[in-house]
Parts: sequence; structure tokens; C-alpha cells
Amino acid sequence: MKKNKILLIYIIFGLVWVLFTDYIVSLYVPPESLLLFQKLKGIFYILFTGTIIYFVLRKIEELNSSKEHKEKLSTLINSMIDFVNFKDGEGRWIEANNFGLKLFQLENVDYKGKKDSELAEYTDFYREALIYCESSDEETWKNGKVTRCEEIIPIPDGGEKHFDTIKVPLFNDDGSRKGLVVIGRDITDKKMAEEQVRRSEKLSIVGELAASVGHEIRNPLTSIKGFLHLLEEKDQSNKLYYEIMSKEVNRIDHIVGELLLLAKPQKLYFAQNDLKLIVSDIVSLLEPQANMTNVLIHYDPKEELMIECEENLLKQLFINIIKNAIEASSEKGNVWVKIDKESAETVLVKVEDEGSGISEDFLTRLGEPFYSSKEKGTGLGLTVSHKIVEQHGGTIHFNSEEGVGTKVEIQLPVKHESKRG
Ligand SMILES: Nc1ncnc2c1ncn2[C@@H]1O[C@H](COP(=O)(O)OP(=O)(O)OP(=O)(O)O)[C@@H](O)[C@H]1O
Ligand SMILES: [Mg+2]
Repeated sequence: MKKNKILLIYIIFGLVWVLFTDYIVSLYVPPESLLLFQKLKGIFYILFTGTIIYFVLRKIEELNSSKEHKEKLSTLINSMIDFVNFKDGEGRWIEANNFGLKLFQLENVDYKGKKDSELAEYTDFYREALIYCESSDEETWKNGKVTRCEEIIPIPDGGEKHFDTIKVPLFNDDGSRKGLVVIGRDITDKKMAEEQVRRSEKLSIVGELAASVGHEIRNPLTSIKGFLHLLEEKDQSNKLYYEIMSKEVNRIDHIVGELLLLAKPQKLYFAQNDLKLIVSDIVSLLEPQANMTNVLIHYDPKEELMIECEENLLKQLFINIIKNAIEASSEKGNVWVKIDKESAETVLVKVEDEGSGISEDFLTRLGEPFYSSKEKGTGLGLTVSHKIVEQHGGTIHFNSEEGVGTKVEIQLPVKHESKRG
């Protein structure tokens, strides 16, 4: 449409020029100079239209090169595995790569020219994160230099992603704000690996400690137990004291047992077992303890679920997890235990309670040895549990909200793959 208009204007202008100048020439130019004037008129016309064509072609060339440049830039930023975003001096988005748009659920939004706070209106889930970005950009502008920080962005499946974010503010010569480049690298895996190292370092210290003192404690403990038994039989008047002493000695024995379980390399015997029966046994075992605090355990498995596992270790694992759920529940609470075949390769065990829940801070440190909120807790139950899950090649995941409850999901492979090397 635009092209047609330009062509029409050019034809009308050309005709007007030819007819009008011919008319003027016929009026004012003497007949002997007529030929020379016609030639000059033609030359002028060629120069004039030539100049216009030259400028039009130059403009097209410029446009093409800027388009090419833009395409290259877009290919480059979209091939990056980082979040990349360019904003203008007012904080309006100029360009963002697909990774960034997907991250903030803005794939179908016409984001260009909008600020973070305006884009926040398009996504419920990332509303707060986007509003936070606007204020953290402002910090960078105020600092006036490249800033680097770690940002945590929640993801819809309940987890979170850690980003190493670099913000580069650009200024005009007069010091006014020109633009902001934001690059965020997903370092979630690195963070998890660091956490794993931290945890295993602590575990190995516990292991060494346990190995060195474990046996030393066990031996005198056995003699104390024996003599206590003997005294209890002879001296009936102090029966209550002996009972308490023997309970406490058993507790020490239990702690030493758990420490040795963590420390000693054990020979494991994996065999085909029905998970439904293993969990059933544990539920029956823990029901009396649950009844004492009026907690109801719901377990209603449908069919057998055969998996290759180390039966005793799995029992230990479910005792620890279900016991924690019972202990966290208040009077008349409920604990749900479910087992499911998730896929041909994995089974999922879920233990859910409506107990006290776990604070966010505490949640990240679960499984660390000696980390307990209970007066008489050793804080070793989950450390042992993590180890058992790891030995089975599975995963354990905690989802919890303070005052609402906790959901533990344990995923175990149906077939055990022995580690080599
Ligand atoms: N289902 C749960 N609900 C609330 N808090 C929990 C739950 N499971 C674990 N916790 C928290 O995690 C902490 C560590 O649990 P862990 O089983 O390792 O140790 P513990 O229960 O304190 O002691 P023990 O070694 O006797 O089991 C608990 O003290 C508790 O604060
Ligand atoms: Mg426990």
C-alpha cells in the first residue's frame, strides 16, 4: 500500500513537472534557447530523481543491515542457557531471550516496552518475583556499577531455582540512565552439589567419630546393662530407678547403634520384597505409639509392589519417617501413608501429616546429623534415612509448611543397580 502511494506521487509529480515546466518554457524562453533549456530540464530531472533513488536505496540497505543485526542478536541470546534481558533507562523491557520469557511464564505476552511491575500483572505466580526485580534494578542504578548477586526464584512445582545474576547499568554521556543488561545463570545444580558436599563432609566427620568411639562405648555399656539387670533382681525396693536407668542405657545403645550404622561400610543384601508388606509391618509396629497420642495412621494399599531392596534398611527408613510424622502430630492428628507404582522403573512412598510442619530454614538442613528440634531427639533419624535412600539409588523430598503439615515423598527404583568402581 505504501509502495503504491509513493509510486503514484512520483508519477503525478513527474507529469506536473514535465507539463508545468514545458508550459513555463514555452511562455518565457526565446525559441533559439528552447533546445538548451529542454536539455537542462532533463539533466536536472535525472539528477533530482537519481538523488532520491540513491537515498531510498541507502535507507533500504540500512534497514536490512539493522534487521540482520537484530536477527543475529536474537539468535545469540536465544542460544544462551542463561536468562538475558535488556531494559531501557526507565526499566522497560527491550529484549529478552526465550529462556527468560519461559522462566517468568511470559511466552505469550507482548512484553516489549513494559516494566517489570506491568508484566507482573500477566502472571500470578511470578508477580512478587517481578516486582522484586524492579526494586533490585533500582539498587543497581543507584550503585552505578556492575552488581552481582544470587537470586532465588520459586518454580511452580514447589521447588526453587538459584540464579547468579549480573546487572550492568549503562549511562548516557550526561549521566542519565541509558539501559540495563541483566544476565542470570541457573546455578541450582551447582548449589545442590555444594550442599551435598557440605553434608557428606559433615557425615564423614560423624562417621570417623562414630567409628572411633562407637565400639569403646558399646563394651562398657554391655557390662552396665548386665550389672543393672543383676542389681534389679536383688534389690526390689529401687525397682523404679533401675527401670529408668535401664531405659536411658538402652537409649545410649540405640544412639551408638545409629552412629555405627552411618559409619560402618555394611554388606547389603538386596532381594525382591513386597513393599506393601514392608510398610504394613511398620504401620502395625508404630500403631501402638500413634494410639497413645490419638494419632490415626491411614494405610490402605491395593496391590503388591515388588521391589529389589534391602528389607531391614527399608524398614528402618519407614520407621524413622512415620515416627517423625506421629511425633509432629498433635492429639487427634492423621498420618497418611501411601504407596504407588509411579512408572515401570520407580515406586513412590508418600507419608503425609498435618502436624507442626518444618520452618523454611530448618527444611534446607534436614538430614544433617544431630539436627533436632526435639528435647530427646538425636537428630540422626533423617541422616540415617538419607543414607538408606541413597544406598537404594532413590530420592527423598520434603514439602512442609509450618502449622499445616509435612509431606515426605520417597522415590525408589524397582530394580537395584549396584554401583561400580
Ligand atoms: N514430619 C515432620 N514434621 C515436623 N518436623 C519434622 C518431621 N520430620 C522431621 N522433622 C524435624 O526434623 C528434625 C530431625 O528429624 P530426625 O528424625 O533426624 O531427628 P529426631 O526425630 O529429632 O530424632 P531421632 O534421631 O530420635 O529420630 C526433627 O527434630 C524435627 O524437627
Ligand atoms: Mg526422628
